[in-house]
Amino acid sequence: MTPQLEPTKLSEQLFPVYKRWNITFQEASGSLITGGDGKEYIDLMAGIGVTNLGHCHPAVTKAVEQQLYKGWHGSNFFQYEGQANTAELLTKHSCGDLVVFVNSGTEANEAAIKLARKHTGRQKIISFVQSFHGRTFGSMAATGQDSIHQGFGPMLEGFEYIPYNDVNALEKAVDDDTAAVILEVVQGEGGIIPGEEAFLQAVEKAVKRAGALLICDEIQTGLGRTGAFFAHQHYGLQPDLITTAKGLGNGFPTGGVIGKAFLKDAFGPGSHGSTFGGNPLAMAAAEATLSTLIEEKWIDAVASKGDALLAELKETLQPLAVVKDIRGKGLMIGIELTEPVADYIVALQDKGVLAIGAGPNVIRLLPALTIEWELLMKGVNALKEVLS
Ligand SMILES: Cc1ncc(COP(=O)(O)O)c(C=O)c1O
Repeated sequence: MTPQLEPTKLSEQLFPVYKRWNITFQEASGSLITGGDGKEYIDLMAGIGVTNLGHCHPAVTKAVEQQLYKGWHGSNFFQYEGQANTAELLTKHSCGDLVVFVNSGTEANEAAIKLARKHTGRQKIISFVQSFHGRTFGSMAATGQDSIHQGFGPMLEGFEYIPYNDVNALEKAVDDDTAAVILEVVQGEGGIIPGEEAFLQAVEKAVKRAGALLICDEIQTGLGRTGAFFAHQHYGLQPDLITTAKGLGNGFPTGGVIGKAFLKDAFGPGSHGSTFGGNPLAMAAAEATLSTLIEEKWIDAVASKGDALLAELKETLQPLAVVKDIRGKGLMIGIELTEPVADYIVALQDKGVLAIGAGPNVIRLLPALTIEWELLMKGVNALKEVLS
């Protein structure tokens, strides 16, 4: 097994908040990334579920390039066609009516939590053990993992964590003091844990009964990743708020909250804002990304591609002693091992394949929705060699 390599010199003046790999990101196209030494890698992680159309998709690159010469920033005092067009696409493909744009996933969740408290006048936000919602104070407080809170206390008040996929715990916790439940339909960072249909529907029922709001955090699961535009649509859920980011700009930082029309007054003038939220470059990227996803019908192919990949992985890897479970939805797949994955991820890199972990024991695959089957099969072979 190759040992975890030392951080490169390039990181010497950076806070070591990331355990960086010994690979320099030089250039990337589609599902291939070239390192600083010229080595080519098959990308099965898409920048942690971001470059859903593959790196440097020509339509997105062109849209951003054109906007670069038209103006980078005006402020949200202006009307922007890009925001209107992107909001139209997001609301057309979801149950929401209104959008507020931000710059990242954690900011989207912050905004959703604020909006839920303001609208309901209640404080309690319920989330799930092993959930991940971001690193800023509200989203961190909503994240149900002690390791993420460590050293940053006190956490914000009013957050409660209950076990995922546990209907009894849910029904006890959601009450008349609850402002919102924030839900990942498939837990991502927590280890690729799909929500069970009965549980997901019980969440919606409990929230409605209590007069609370349902926030679906679709930051990792959204925009086609699981085979639907948003993952909650597989189960017919109608969240009041949907948070999105990651894949929205195909790598250009942006995010948003999509909400139902009845929430309009809670986010009136002066209640929320962001200097850069919905910036013209970000909106050029987002509009082109969404239009391409929809017009080229990439999402339609995800379910069958994901099912075929899951079947292939199960056949090839399940018999191996180190493999405990293989699960997922669409192109969001976890391979749970009986031991930590860190060394296996480095060994995969030696074979020219990039994947990431989700929790200590799960190898996570989040390839671009556009990835060629041949590259996926090369990835499966590399996984077999490394895990054997
Ligand atoms: C479900 C979920 N919510 C929120 C976030 C935070 O997003 P960001 O890193 O853009 O702040 C992530 C990031 O991994 C995520 O997976």
